Amino acid sequence: MGPAIRAGRFGSVLLSFSEIDSTNRLLLDLAAQGYPEGTVVQADSQTRGRGRQGRRWITPPGRALAFSLLLRPRSSPKDLPWVTLMAAVAVARCLETFRVRAGIKWPNDLLLNDKKVCGILTEVGPSRDNRPSIVLGVGLNVNQVAKDFPPGLRKAATSLQMATKRTWDRQKLLGRLLDHLEEGYEDLLHGRIDRLSEQWGKRNVTLGREVRLTQGKRSITGMALGLDRNGALLLSLKTGEVQRVLSGDVTFRAKGHKGIA
Ligand code: BTN
Repeated sequence: MGPAIRAGRFGSVLLSFSEIDSTNRLLLDLAAQGYPEGTVVQADSQTRGRGRQGRRWITPPGRALAFSLLLRPRSSPKDLPWVTLMAAVAVARCLETFRVRAGIKWPNDLLLNDKKVCGILTEVGPSRDNRPSIVLGVGLNVNQVAKDFPPGLRKAATSLQMATKRTWDRQKLLGRLLDHLEEGYEDLLHGRIDRLSEQWGKRNVTLGREVRLTQGKRSITGMALGLDRNGALLLSLKTGEVQRVLSGDVTFRAKGHKGIA
């Protein structure tokens, strides 16, 4: 794959591999070595791609987009959840420029026809000058067909090609994604949380639904009410208590889809 051609700061350092263990793993190492904000590591395939909650993420050669972006925000750690939410909004907005409308399942899974098309893994690396390094890893299913997914995932996963019946140019997509990530990040740096929250809310498919939230072995069920100022999900439990959650996996308990704006 050739480099993505774009004018922005993100991706001006772009390291591209045909195969690597995990782009997040490498970029965390590079962050420790002092690589600048905006550095991107991209791989055509990953042998040990990392997913959320310790899961694996499969990136078969020639089909998907797998990249990691290094951020060094000045914001306080309490804003970190917004980095993750911002990334989901950026990917969704990018796909909309190609007339594809994905829904966001909290915190940052992108769904097409109720199946996962993109996952985002945010990992925090070492700080320098009081600025944490954040590695934002994006795995987008682009040109996979059903047999590219392991049988156990076929019901739950989809790709842009499967949803649109056409082949996508992965490098063009990467360039556009970086544009949208850069724009969303500017919003974050300027404290435009209301705007991000509104953009996330318009695309979310989680709020207003009965959900089960799983964190490791623990799970709770409740009604997803909204996000608080720090990007935490507010869950109304049967006991009447409202619980704030910052991480976990959401599954839907009952049908009854909220419309996607
Ligand atoms: C999820 O579980 O939904 C998150 C998946 C994140 C996968 C991406 S692919 C590029 C980057 N490198 C990794 O090892 N993981 C992320």
